[in-house]
Amino acid sequence: MSRQLPRGRFRPEAPVSPPGSGRNHMTETQRWGTRVGLVLAMAGNAVGLGNFLRFPAQAAQNGGGAFLIPYLISFVFMGIPLLWVEWAIGRHGGQFGHHSGPGMFDRLGRQRWLKYVGVFGLFTNLTIAAYYCYIESWTVAYVFHSIGGTFKSTDPKTFFPHYLGVHESSLFALPGEALAFFTITLALNTFILSRGLAKGIEVAAKIGMPLLLIFAAALAIRGLTLGSHAPAVVQSPLDGLNFVWNPNLSGLGNPTTWMAAAGQVFFTLSLGMGSIHCYASYLRRDQDLALNASAAGWINEFVEVILGGTILIPIATAYLGLSAVQAATSGGSGFGLGFLTLPTLFNNWGWFAPIAGAMWFGLLFFAGITSSLAMGQPLLAFLEDEFKITRARAALLFGAVTFALGFVCVWLYPGGAFDEFDFWTGTFALVIFALFESIIFAFVFGMDKGWDEITRGAEMKVPQAFRFIIQWVTPAFITVVFVGALIQPVDGKWGHALASLFGGHGWPLAPGSVIGKIFHIGGSYAWRGPDGRLTAEFVQDATRLLLLLVFVAISLLVAIAWRRKARAAHPGTGHGRGHA
Ligand code: ALA
Repeated sequence: MSRQLPRGRFRPEAPVSPPGSGRNHMTETQRWGTRVGLVLAMAGNAVGLGNFLRFPAQAAQNGGGAFLIPYLISFVFMGIPLLWVEWAIGRHGGQFGHHSGPGMFDRLGRQRWLKYVGVFGLFTNLTIAAYYCYIESWTVAYVFHSIGGTFKSTDPKTFFPHYLGVHESSLFALPGEALAFFTITLALNTFILSRGLAKGIEVAAKIGMPLLLIFAAALAIRGLTLGSHAPAVVQSPLDGLNFVWNPNLSGLGNPTTWMAAAGQVFFTLSLGMGSIHCYASYLRRDQDLALNASAAGWINEFVEVILGGTILIPIATAYLGLSAVQAATSGGSGFGLGFLTLPTLFNNWGWFAPIAGAMWFGLLFFAGITSSLAMGQPLLAFLEDEFKITRARAALLFGAVTFALGFVCVWLYPGGAFDEFDFWTGTFALVIFALFESIIFAFVFGMDKGWDEITRGAEMKVPQAFRFIIQWVTPAFITVVFVGALIQPVDGKWGHALASLFGGHGWPLAPGSVIGKIFHIGGSYAWRGPDGRLTAEFVQDATRLLLLLVFVAISLLVAIAWRRKARAAHPGTGHGRGHA
């Protein structure tokens, strides 16, 4: 696409900051205080609820050790390459004073549409933050209830639905306590974000990450040392550990296991969100990214596989038996085990029960908040960089919009709004953004520049094979995951689906596939039931419309910001219009 006007005045082709100076002329750039702080913040971004709840549940649902091999292969061929790509896009954009998706993507080539791909980097963060902060707020509430002994007198299985306001007959809920904790949690996020990178996010990571590791290690040791004679123990916790960790090759031939594994790698590393790009944009031009990115990625894997794999499943196996654990993880979110079952099981630990509960939900809180801060920062950066809004105001705006969207998740939780957010933004949008960015990086930015960006200042030797992997294997891998998600067959039985297709009976789409969800396959298509009441399909469609509107609204903001820049660069000519 050709441009009518030279872009030089407001869009210099060279970085605005002298290499390594750490300053630029467009905005006063924030920087990470220390390298340890950077790596802890990046690792904290990745280490989240997904490590302790989603990973064990996904592993249990997909055959334990059978899940592990596709998971590790996805990590190496998709996770690590995408980490480098996202860090590189971020550091490159940061040299031009851009710390959020639209500006960074605009800098990857001359095409005007690139900045709209960058909108995903704001959209996913904002919409995930809305429901993620809600989950985070449950963990805060549960710390108080654990210490207060609520779970000794109340069955967590009834406490949790009551807390969420879920009643069978209603699609709506206004649970006062849940709303109060959500507001407090969001206010805390907003406050920390308003303090900035070094004094806010970095401090939170330096406090949260070590505490999280200590709590996780204490629970893992306590769980694994549960002897077979301890009261109420029915099976060795080591059976649970073996189940997760004993790799077997059976998952390799199962596309559903692959999809689950790749999906987990996306979520756990916070890929395709835009938060990694943002954090990396505060690096200096020649600052290492290869080693830092790998370190953050491997820390996440250690916390996920070693610690995340050692708490939930082994403890639950000890008290419930392995098959009951697998049944309890259906759905793959881990909420059932984490919020319903575990508080009951801790009751077997006598005086240690409230401490164990506080540690478990405390570690979930620290894991959560270090991730949700990373979701907020790109939005603050967008408002600061592109609209010159002060950080305090940007933080307040972020808090207000996230509260409004989160309120929808709270209010319409029983009708399924929360699940819609989780699926479309926390699962599907990540894959789309990652697919775009991997193709744009390799073919629009170009692999020569891309490789130079990844290896410049590198404090490790990046194996040359990754140049080929980043250019071809990773985009192909994501494409397969994307198509698989679109057309996933019923029960994940791809062989049966192919036989059905070639037998002339059509493709049996799963209700949970993307197409299946769009068309409400397996549900009713009506927005009102026979009794005239609104249906869950109505709530689902309304939520999807809301998410679409959020995407459009952010795109409009981007268009406005770029039009303003163009006008500022060509005052009085009116030429700026053509640049938006
Ligand atoms: N990476 C974050 C998590 O695992 C989002 O929860």
